[in-house]
Amino acid sequence: MPKVPTIDSPSPGSATEGQLVIRRPDDWHVHLRDGAMLRAVASYTAHQFGRAIVMPNLPVPVTRVQHAKDYRARILAALPADTTFEPLMTAYLTDTMDASELSSGFGEGVFTAAKLYPARATTNSQHGVTSIAAIEPVLETMQRIDMPLLIHGEVTSPEVDVFDREAVFVETVLQPLRQRFPALRIVLEHITTQEAADFVMAAGEGVAATITPHHLEINRNAMFDGGLRPHMYCLPTAKRERHRLALRAAATSGNPKFFLGTDSAPHEIGAKESDCGCAGIFNAPFALEAYAKVFAEENALDKLEGFASEFGPAFYRLPLNQEHVVLQRQGIDVPERLPADEGWVRPFHSGSTLPWRYRGLA
Ligand code: DOR
Ligand code: ZN
Repeated sequence: MPKVPTIDSPSPGSATEGQLVIRRPDDWHVHLRDGAMLRAVASYTAHQFGRAIVMPNLPVPVTRVQHAKDYRARILAALPADTTFEPLMTAYLTDTMDASELSSGFGEGVFTAAKLYPARATTNSQHGVTSIAAIEPVLETMQRIDMPLLIHGEVTSPEVDVFDREAVFVETVLQPLRQRFPALRIVLEHITTQEAADFVMAAGEGVAATITPHHLEINRNAMFDGGLRPHMYCLPTAKRERHRLALRAAATSGNPKFFLGTDSAPHEIGAKESDCGCAGIFNAPFALEAYAKVFAEENALDKLEGFASEFGPAFYRLPLNQEHVVLQRQGIDVPERLPADEGWVRPFHSGSTLPWRYRGLA
């Protein structure tokens, strides 16, 4: 039996004393970037999480085993020598990806999973997959060797409304893909809609989803609140309120198909506040605080440990982290900006106070 989280002083009246101890969480979807940005942001993720699935969408994508080994070494070099954080590397699928490269990387333990970006769906996805047909042999291999496929689930055709792209993907791409490869294990990443949550719930046990803190917190109005809000723009974009409520219900349900993946995606402030602003919300510095706020609002703090620390390892067939971490019910102020990459990045929740504070290892 998994250890039940302990909540001391949980009564609403004793807000400042409340403490939550949970198994050390992992982040099952993060963008750590490279170079100066990597050096600026890696420690935020390593401070809060035991492991992280690291996205491969670098300007030169991670398509080879050697790329992943080198990138992993750069991530570890950006952290203190005694770090216990473990980066889990992913391969970036292209139309020309070689199935044997993938299977040898998986066999060696270098690749934990492979990521499917539909071409031109998001940041650095121009080398992504143009059609499922192009990667059928790769998917067959992945199904055979039991290597998880991580999916950015949006169609990219310009005729499809940007707010419908995930739901259309689920219906026109994911359903057929699932039928064609019924044993392929799939994570639908950063889901944003009721349709995606329903698909995952109804699919067999080989299908799961990650949910970000921002999609639990904001709906699409946040992008237009009194003016254009580039720091609330990410892909897939936030949707209508009813979708946000569906995601909250899924995340706090205790259903092991839904687990934590921040999709923390830093871009320098100038690149966000631009004529063509980049997609991505940088939530790594206060990720656990952001999730704890949502779970507390839903009266579901007892469900946080499963979502953050147990369901992800179960899906990936990895051991549970043995350490525990402490969250305290004490306000924490999120700064307006943080230094990064010779410029600045704006953290999610900037300028506000979050009610739960991450205290570190127990
Ligand atoms: O908002 C996003 N930013 N969504 C993605 O899929 C990619 C990410 C990034 O790399 O900036
Ligand atoms: Zn992402």
